Amino acid sequence: MNNLTWQNLKVTKQHRLMQKKQPSYVLWFTGLSGSGKSTLANALEQALFERGLHTYLLDGDNLRHGLNQDLGFSETDRTENMRRVGEVSKLFTDAGLIVLAAFISPFQSDRSFIKDLIGEENVIDVYLDTPLSVCEQRDTKGLYKQARAGKIKGFTGIDSPYEAPKSADIVFNTDIMSVNDCVSIILAYLGRRLLLPSV
Ligand SMILES: Nc1ncnc2c1ncn2[C@@H]1O[C@H](COP(=O)(O)OP(=O)(O)O)[C@@H](O)[C@H]1O
Ligand SMILES: [Mg+2]
Repeated sequence: MNNLTWQNLKVTKQHRLMQKKQPSYVLWFTGLSGSGKSTLANALEQALFERGLHTYLLDGDNLRHGLNQDLGFSETDRTENMRRVGEVSKLFTDAGLIVLAAFISPFQSDRSFIKDLIGEENVIDVYLDTPLSVCEQRDTKGLYKQARAGKIKGFTGIDSPYEAPKSADIVFNTDIMSVNDCVSIILAYLGRRLLLPSV
């Protein structure tokens, strides 16, 4: 990148945060397919939105319809998926938004990469530690059935590994916890860390 120079901008992240009267950070939801990432991220975004906060939800499935539509599920493509999502999350936090990112993100190395990219202090890990048996029973999109039948290869939890986070900030088993309870716990956590300004 020899001929590239970083252009300094007059309106900075700090200006944007002051204008929005909020901090910006990333809530990173990780877990098996069907563990509850999209449902919880949606419910939490609604709660934050109702408080007047500026948010954006990046959902794995939705991004694969657009920005990442050229990517598959090989390890290389999953890693590129994470790199792009990481860069977008970084841009959106720079824009002053609270980002909710819902991605299976099965590999520890990819999750570490995201933290290095965005800054560890700006990322809150929410691990949906819902047992595989429960996710498979829910089979919200019918994908487990297809994976078990060998129609989908490299499906996380079936024939592709999920590396559980060892030190997530928040851990839920959604088999025994309601969506509302999970939302309340995250809001309380954000409040304790002074990440929930009343606007
Ligand atoms: N506490 C909870 N949090 C999130 N989802 C839950 C919870 N309890 C039950 N569920 C259900 O589990 C399913 C999770 O599906 P989904 O959010 O699409 O998972 P993912 O995005 O991780 O693939 C939904 O049908 C949801 O209603
Ligand atoms: Mg989802």
